[in-house]
Amino acid sequence: MNDILVINGPNLNMFGKREPEIYGADTLADYEAKIDALCSELGKTCGFFQSNHEGELVTVIQNAVRAGTEDAARAIVINAAAYTHTSIAMRDALSLFLGPKIEVHVSNVMKREQFRHQSFISAVCDGIIVGLGVNSYLLAVRAANDLLDQS
Ligand code: DQA
Repeated sequence: MNDILVINGPNLNMFGKREPEIYGADTLADYEAKIDALCSELGKTCGFFQSNHEGELVTVIQNAVRAGTEDAARAIVINAAAYTHTSIAMRDALSLFLGPKIEVHVSNVMKREQFRHQSFISAVCDGIIVGLGVNSYLLAVRAANDLLDQS
């Protein structure tokens, strides 16, 4: 069981190669190393999951709910990527998870195309952090950490 599970959706495995003017030069491994270092500093364990498949993302969220199992988590930080704007299935899965949930986006989705302004998952998350690159994740981890410590 991890304290914080960081979930990344479709195409985020392409960080570093994908539209670097929007998403920067860091790879997903670079992101994960920075997040992992912060979690260690905060005294929390973290796990990482990335998938390009909606059903796999739903399953990992369902598994995070199962307290006492290896795949369980106490908090979720999630960048659902394009599924943010389309997936009722991910929203429903996140509704099952009762711990702290923070939605993140690397880019400022509000400055981009209209279709990125709608999120199906924001309403079931505790907070949203957008537009700050890797800092979106790091701030989300700090928020999740605080919410865990308060619970
Ligand atoms: C993103 C924003 C989404 O609109 C987009 O589909 C992504 C990445 C972000 O982190 O900025 O894949 O979630």
